[in-house]
Amino acid sequence: MCGISAYIGYRKAYPIVINGLKRLEYRGYDSAGVMIFDGENMHLSKTKGKVSHLEEIIKSKPKSKVGNIGMGHTRWATHGVPNDVNSHPHFSQSGDLVLVHNGIIENYDTIKKELISRGYSFKSDTDTEVLVNLIEEVKLTEGCKLGKAVQLALTNVVGAYAIAVFDKNRPNEIIVARLGSPIAIGVGKDNKEFFVASDASPFVEYTKDAIYLEDEEMAIIRVGKGVKVHKIMDDALVQPEIQKLQMSLDQIEKGGFDHFMLKEIYEQPKAITDTFRGRMLLEEKIIKMSSIETYLDKFLNANRIIIVACGTSWHAGLVGEYLFEDLARIPVEVEYASEFRYRNPIITNKDVVIAISQSGETADTLAAIKLAKSMGAFVYGICNVVGSSIARETHSGAYTHAGPEIGVASTKAFTTQITVLTLIALKLGQAKGSIPQHNFENYLEKMQLIPKQVEELLQIDEKVKEIASVYKDAKNCLYLGRGFNFPVALEGALKLKEISYIHAEGYPAAEMKHGPIALIDENMPIFVIATNKGHYEKVVSNIQEIKSRAGKIIAIVTEGDVTVKEIADHYIEVPDTEEALTPLLTTIPLQLLSYHIAVMLGKNVDQPRNLAKSVTVE
Ligand code: AGP
Repeated sequence: MCGISAYIGYRKAYPIVINGLKRLEYRGYDSAGVMIFDGENMHLSKTKGKVSHLEEIIKSKPKSKVGNIGMGHTRWATHGVPNDVNSHPHFSQSGDLVLVHNGIIENYDTIKKELISRGYSFKSDTDTEVLVNLIEEVKLTEGCKLGKAVQLALTNVVGAYAIAVFDKNRPNEIIVARLGSPIAIGVGKDNKEFFVASDASPFVEYTKDAIYLEDEEMAIIRVGKGVKVHKIMDDALVQPEIQKLQMSLDQIEKGGFDHFMLKEIYEQPKAITDTFRGRMLLEEKIIKMSSIETYLDKFLNANRIIIVACGTSWHAGLVGEYLFEDLARIPVEVEYASEFRYRNPIITNKDVVIAISQSGETADTLAAIKLAKSMGAFVYGICNVVGSSIARETHSGAYTHAGPEIGVASTKAFTTQITVLTLIALKLGQAKGSIPQHNFENYLEKMQLIPKQVEELLQIDEKVKEIASVYKDAKNCLYLGRGFNFPVALEGALKLKEISYIHAEGYPAAEMKHGPIALIDENMPIFVIATNKGHYEKVVSNIQEIKSRAGKIIAIVTEGDVTVKEIADHYIEVPDTEEALTPLLTTIPLQLLSYHIAVMLGKNVDQPRNLAKSVTVE
């Protein structure tokens, strides 16, 4: 995600744009930039780092603050590491057009090659610079105005975008367009001024009148005239609906949710989609990941894969172990990075190490990578922050496209890490021939359904809230799962611990008999994952053993389950899918459960005590 903030009207643009970016920093904060048009020239300032750093730079450039038209951007990098050149806004080659963009242009490489063949050159590695030059090329070849050029150009673009574009030769208008990423237009009194932003937080104090573009819509915003909305694909006019903003500033930054954690739980359908977008190609029935293809021999000839990570990322790594061994038949070991780095491990150049980290800055994981590299291993990274230390230290890697995860308790990072691991395991399995092609294709089809299934699953929020109210005062909880869902049990326990401060332990369901069963009594809630293809009968036996000791069972079952429903005290149904994909679903109710219990206990959900979002120290 990135944040866009633009203004056109009678006020000074700079204060509105820069303060707007500050309110949007939760959407991305690795680099920022502002363009202010003074009536003749477009003054551009952009830099790696936060908006406050940009502000410092602009302080020494007073000319860059004069003008009543401006646009700004705070970045969450997806293509091109965070640096000054890759920061937005981006100019077209002629210098006439300027554009800011939130999203991912999937076919940017093809477009870039075509533009280069037509004499264009590029300063940055971004998909955004390609887009602004595509619009320029269309404008020149079609001899049309900016609005028409944007509409025609976007019919050739595949991906997700929210853009604002300005042409210095048509200084009374701004063009915006949206597909898959949000754009809000603040409408000033008598059409004398307009605001454009990724959400309404930058302009809520100036106007309560907002137009929210729908997907595949664009708008031509003209001072004194108003907002004309068109369908991108056929240019058909759309009657814009002006909405009255009711939310407070704080609510707007959290997308209307009470906490970032809940917002990020609800972002998972989009985050999972963005993570497999451009990598899982259903039509071609392939998984395209150049970061794997380039080093395919390393993976296929590896003696083993060692996964190193911490916390929730370590739990994702455990799911990865089950995925790689089941689908790609490659031996896997999963190690806590903090243990791996100090236990004098035996590592050879026949080992592949996969490091998983949301922040890309976890000290123990970074140290484990350096150790593995020093002993000859090939190291692959799975991170959520482009250009992070771990992303730069590894030989190759893939980004999760979860967008910034602000809540300290990791949620969408977990499911997007599992998504990447699943794609890699399927790709390696297909390359090794360990997965029959029809199974491979079935997995792609089932993975394609996951975001929608998560969307549906999120409707159980009220039921989870009821269950949370029953067990919020528990002192100890057990989480049990088998197979692919054993790591989900561990993750569910960690979520509860870290935000509600209730002691919880995750266990393989069968291990309960080897000790923890002694803990069970009528005060002990046990959360059991009992999906229909995951050693179901064995888990049912475990549940019966618990019931005979008066334990309280909250079961996560597959839709249509009858047996467990009869014996559990509470149950939550998740949609049916391949067992290997169930962690993407079974984790959702456990995330919601820990969230609601923590809220009911009055805890600081987004910043739990003693915790930091990124543990950059040992
Ligand atoms: C998860 O909810 C925690 N915030 C924590 O365990 C986290 O997963 C761990 O610190 C690893 O962080 P990383 O993924 O950024 O490396």
